[in-house]
Amino acid sequence: MKFLSIKEAMKKGSGKVSVRGWVYRERGSNKLKFVVLRDVSEIIQCVIKKEKFSEDKFKEADKVQIEASMELTGTIKEDKRAPSGYEIDADEFTVVGSSDNFPLAADQNREFLDDNRHLTLRTRRMTAILKIRSTYIQARDEFYRKKGFFRFDAPILQPSQSEGGSTLFEVKYYDAKTYLSQSWQLYAESAIFALEKIYDMGPTFRAEKSKTSRHLSEFWMAEMEAAWWDLKEVSEFAKEEIKYSILKVVEENADDLQSLEQNPERLRKIAEKEWPTIKYREALKILKEKNKMEVPFGKDLRTIEEETLMKHFDTPVVVTHYPVVAMAFYKPRDPDFPDEALCFDMLSPTGVEIVGGSQRSLDIEDMKKRLIDAGEDPSSLEWYFDLRRYGSVPHAGYGVGIERVITWICGLDNIKDAIPFPRTSVRYKP
Ligand code: 4AD
Ligand code: MG
Repeated sequence: MKFLSIKEAMKKGSGKVSVRGWVYRERGSNKLKFVVLRDVSEIIQCVIKKEKFSEDKFKEADKVQIEASMELTGTIKEDKRAPSGYEIDADEFTVVGSSDNFPLAADQNREFLDDNRHLTLRTRRMTAILKIRSTYIQARDEFYRKKGFFRFDAPILQPSQSEGGSTLFEVKYYDAKTYLSQSWQLYAESAIFALEKIYDMGPTFRAEKSKTSRHLSEFWMAEMEAAWWDLKEVSEFAKEEIKYSILKVVEENADDLQSLEQNPERLRKIAEKEWPTIKYREALKILKEKNKMEVPFGKDLRTIEEETLMKHFDTPVVVTHYPVVAMAFYKPRDPDFPDEALCFDMLSPTGVEIVGGSQRSLDIEDMKKRLIDAGEDPSSLEWYFDLRRYGSVPHAGYGVGIERVITWICGLDNIKDAIPFPRTSVRYKP
């Protein structure tokens, strides 16, 4: 018999079905064994009646514990009392893989759960998050292909920094040393002279020593870069990309969102609204006038300030023109306001930076000076300055922190659950 997913079996609703999955719950008496099976699609209650099986076969069912894997054939019918509204009355079953004393149970502490990440992945909660993550990433890919972008891949091992030396991970490279990629960007900038409009998504590394609910040491950054584009074009495009991917999640993962207690309709409304763009100076004004929070021009916004600012909005917001002094060397000065950079961050409604991007500086001397001021050695980036020497064009790009977006749309309280195996300053196992 052909196996159906549990969801398909429920759709069929009557007659014979074969399903397979893992034991989500079990209880029994000397006459009956109830097994709730789960697969990627749903859960379903199955009843194994002693009268229908030999003594030995029923013993097999009786011994089944949580997380054992099973194949089961029987008659499905609606049953309002069953956890997902259907029940299968089993005629045949096979225990494929037994499971003795599965270590996870309710109310275990975070540390224990993280030590057992290889097992927590199969919880209903993590399954829902991982399905949403998969849809989101595939939708983004589809968006870029529709827009005529080429996928371009950059090296992970890089000889120098792009986002500041303090968060670099060093790698022994034969007799030399290299670093794990902090960003795809500098390499992407060399490729726009060939491919013009490019994107990618790749593992990205930051040695972030502080323990926060928004920082990972290894995360997936989804970046884009486009020749001829300016700040306005690129920041509007970031809104379009994220709205597109969110709407796909709402379409395909409404059940998963609901199981995480997120309302898909609320998310749809957010994605269909206009998302405002304000300047950093306006953000400071809002914080001062509405919250009596005084931030001097020149300081990057801190967590508390981002969170307070976003209490005044119910959609993501693009904030542009951060102070040059607080920004990476490649973010150019606004010619009209030279202490402000042609850059942007997008903040989630929960007050977390989900996107960072900018136009790119074309001024070699200014970039060199800013690198030196930041204590970096500009000589390792001569190849990058070459890009300004041979047919330089205005260009712009940004990076989206995939886990930050997933954290927001799934309503997670910690970014660690937005990635299968989180790496942080205190964890690199399993
Ligand atoms: O703002 P960032 O540092 O920008 C760049 O690296 C640019 N080179 C990107 C570009 O223009 N192509 O990082 C981009 C995004 C942030 O907005 C944030 O969402 C995410 O990456 N991010 C992190 N996510 C999780 N953990 C961390 N430690 C992160 N650091 C940045
Ligand atoms: Mg940033």
